[in-house]
Amino acid sequence: MSTDMSADTDAKLKQIIAEQEEIFVRRQPKSQRLAEQARQYLAGGVTSSWQITAPQPVWLSHGRGSRVWDVDGNEYVDLHGGYGAALAGHAHPAIAKAITNQARNGTHFAQPTPDAITVARELARRFGLPSWRFANSGTEATMDAVHLMRSITGRDLIIKIEGCYHGHHDSVQVSVAPEEEDAGPREKPSSTPSSSGIPKAITDLTLIATFNDLDSVARLLDEHPGQIAGMILEPVMMNAGIIKPEPGYLAGLKQLLHDHDALLTFDEVKTGLTVGPGGVTQAENVQPDLITLAKSLGGGVSVAAIGGTGQTMEHVANGGYEMVGTFNGNPLAMAATRAMLTEVATPEAYQRIERLRQRAATGIEQAIKTSNLTAHVVTAGAKGCVVFAAGAVTNYRGFLGVDDRYSHAHWLFQHNGGVFLPPWGKIEQWLISVQHNEADIDRLIENFAVFARAAGPGTEG
Ligand SMILES: Cc1ncc(COP(=O)(O)O)c(C=O)c1O
Repeated sequence: MSTDMSADTDAKLKQIIAEQEEIFVRRQPKSQRLAEQARQYLAGGVTSSWQITAPQPVWLSHGRGSRVWDVDGNEYVDLHGGYGAALAGHAHPAIAKAITNQARNGTHFAQPTPDAITVARELARRFGLPSWRFANSGTEATMDAVHLMRSITGRDLIIKIEGCYHGHHDSVQVSVAPEEEDAGPREKPSSTPSSSGIPKAITDLTLIATFNDLDSVARLLDEHPGQIAGMILEPVMMNAGIIKPEPGYLAGLKQLLHDHDALLTFDEVKTGLTVGPGGVTQAENVQPDLITLAKSLGGGVSVAAIGGTGQTMEHVANGGYEMVGTFNGNPLAMAATRAMLTEVATPEAYQRIERLRQRAATGIEQAIKTSNLTAHVVTAGAKGCVVFAAGAVTNYRGFLGVDDRYSHAHWLFQHNGGVFLPPWGKIEQWLISVQHNEADIDRLIENFAVFARAAGPGTEG
């Protein structure tokens, strides 16, 4: 909670959250029953801990186009997008056809199939890196990227940005979302474990820098000469709302790291195809040594990719680092990814998404103005969010100061009004798919306006 929040505002927020949570639960009796049953067989009653959301997990029955339906029959415009994985929308005909065909012809051989070449060639064209491999999740891809940076340089230390998330392997489960009291001094963030079960010896190998602050990286490189293998970051931060790089920041990082014979990895698992056809890499025209992709890449099927320069991937090609996995590049994932890249994420689809992005941003900004709410909209291609703060947030410490309860209240209003945004408050963003339309975006804007009237200062007292 921000310290200058008035008692009236505080009470009003509490009240609207309580009212909306009650409506939420009342609309979903079957979800509630399933959640109770599930607790007997599923740890915590869910299949991933991120599905444990207040006031209760939402159980879904199916999705089609831009919509999903819960088990109680409620229909939603889906802007959750499976935490950013549904750029294709749901049951897209091209993806469904590719999956069906492949299912009839065998889904797994652990031998390469021709689709893998088509996919790698298209990724090389979009991201400008010539050589690729595949994996099954973002976590695996970033794990391989970190291993590869260490293997190539023969060094153990890596640099990671405070507030970036790269999956749940040991080296990157550090300072993902630390509380202020654990995060260390602003000018020298500490390496804080983000999960139990991670040995301190591993956490200590991950050094923490501040986003948009080249000096914080330069200092780490100077303090540990010849010991840093490389750096991994989300080139647009997307696990702290949306935080964009300032002009020159990404190019500056590359220069600094290369000056110290260290490597740069862009984790584009979230930004990948969603901010544009060739991710932040293409949009900002800065080529890292390695890129990781996952989420929307497979059109809703689990797949990940690691791309690299000729020099970095030569280390894989010649056996210097064994990049392996039984299901890597499996035919089902490759068929869906081929369809995604060649038939779904097309130039026309990006133009359409751009029109919807503008419509959402303009409509919500207007509602913010009318209601006098302290907030602003940040968008990046198909992704967007409302940041409930006056000024731009440029790094994790700024993000920490944003009151999360506004995001939760907004999420509840949207949900009860038939728009499914990703849960987890201020952390996540909406995803506009290739199958959304104007009416979907208008529902988002209308629900926001209702929320803003309820939560904004105009109605106080
Ligand atoms: C930037 C980023 N990298 C990596 C991951 C891990 O991906 P996965 O959940 O597929 O393991 C995520 C997941 O949210 C992510 O946002």
